Amino acid sequence: MELTRLRGFRDLIGADARAMSLVEERARAIFERYSLKEIRIPVLERTQLYARSSGETSDVVEKQMYTFTDRDEGETVVALRPEGTPGVVRAYIEAGLDRTDPEQRLFYSGPMFRRERPQKGRYRQFYQFGVEVFGRPDAACDAELLIMIDELCRDLKIPFTMEINSIGDHKCRPAFREALVAWGRAHWDELDDDCHNRIDRNPLRLLDCKRDAKVTESAPKSLDFLCDECRTHFETVKELLSAASVEYVVNPRMVRGLDYYTRTAFEVMAGGLGAQSTVVAGGRYDGLVETMGGASIAGIGFAIGVDRMALALEAAGGAQPKKPAVVIVPLGKAMTPQANVVAQEFRSAGLDTELFSPERKLKALLGRASKIGSEFVVIVGEDENARGVVQLLDLKQSGQQAVTLQEAIESVRNSAKK
Ligand code: HAM
Repeated sequence: MELTRLRGFRDLIGADARAMSLVEERARAIFERYSLKEIRIPVLERTQLYARSSGETSDVVEKQMYTFTDRDEGETVVALRPEGTPGVVRAYIEAGLDRTDPEQRLFYSGPMFRRERPQKGRYRQFYQFGVEVFGRPDAACDAELLIMIDELCRDLKIPFTMEINSIGDHKCRPAFREALVAWGRAHWDELDDDCHNRIDRNPLRLLDCKRDAKVTESAPKSLDFLCDECRTHFETVKELLSAASVEYVVNPRMVRGLDYYTRTAFEVMAGGLGAQSTVVAGGRYDGLVETMGGASIAGIGFAIGVDRMALALEAAGGAQPKKPAVVIVPLGKAMTPQANVVAQEFRSAGLDTELFSPERKLKALLGRASKIGSEFVVIVGEDENARGVVQLLDLKQSGQQAVTLQEAIESVRNSAKK
């Protein structure tokens, strides 16, 4: 057995890990400014949870979950979470919030697991940064979340397109489903086996039939079947987005792969990613809390695919690897305590500081300082220490001078500001 990583699982090192963290940091900062509160939920849940919410016939539940039988008394069948929404809804109901405090604005982040065919932007362990808002059936909430997503993508400076659609609700969707089934039967010969299966099991997914995208052009559109309430809801979302100068495209062919959606569905695509270009996806799910045993409470949410957003960020040149502002070199072991004090002073001044080994040669350490991209080196030697100064080397300018610690900090700080 070779000790290599599994297919579709990634080690994220250096700039790749940095890009992921940058996406997560910016998402957290912006979401908190929209008054969303963090929720942390388990990675492992009962498999049944996903069958009940994401849908028995969704690809995620049918083909992609990592499940196993736990060795507990009940031999519980459990699954690594393929998405965050079901767990958040379960936690919301289990904490009694649907009855005591139904209006909740939540965000979560962490790894998800789907046994998909790996390719660029599609992994078996991937990360989501998700949002779920409960108790807000109004269109203003849909618009607010889309405005927030728009703000995040702009903040990250990635080129993106936002697509929205409405797929109706329990009142108007049945007629749309029926029309799709009839269309599927009439176009049987143009559809492949996968899509033949969808006709009865999950007709909405007929619109995702990939064999020939042209085939679905003649398929019925959900927008033509909306009831008055769903239509007004969708019109209001669009008006609010336009009033907020958020650019979007209505894509009447968009359906989502998970079963719980109602009314507004949306996806954000980023440039430079190839086939897996959807970096954010979500929508409204007004019946889900009730289906899962809670009160009748509206819900809406989305998830950022952090891995894909990070790829888009790197493609846009927005994720530079981190470099220390300064490295501290103690000249010999005896100077380590003083070098610690000096490093602490730089760190207290808000500067990223790396302390080098006292046991290596100065020349090797200077080489390493350039290699890791530090602009400044501060040498802490015995003579200098006795005189109350340090040696400050500016690697860019090739200069060196003896200065007080405060002067050294000022020089590094001024350069870091530029
Ligand atoms: P989803 O469309 O299945 O929705 O996934 C959301 C995003 O996660 C995708 O747009 C993509 O960026 C990323 N993603 C999904 N699968 C993979 C993969 N195998 N590798 C890399 N990235 C991936 C949901 O999961 C819903 N829970 C979103 C939601 C929240 N809807 C309402 N609330």
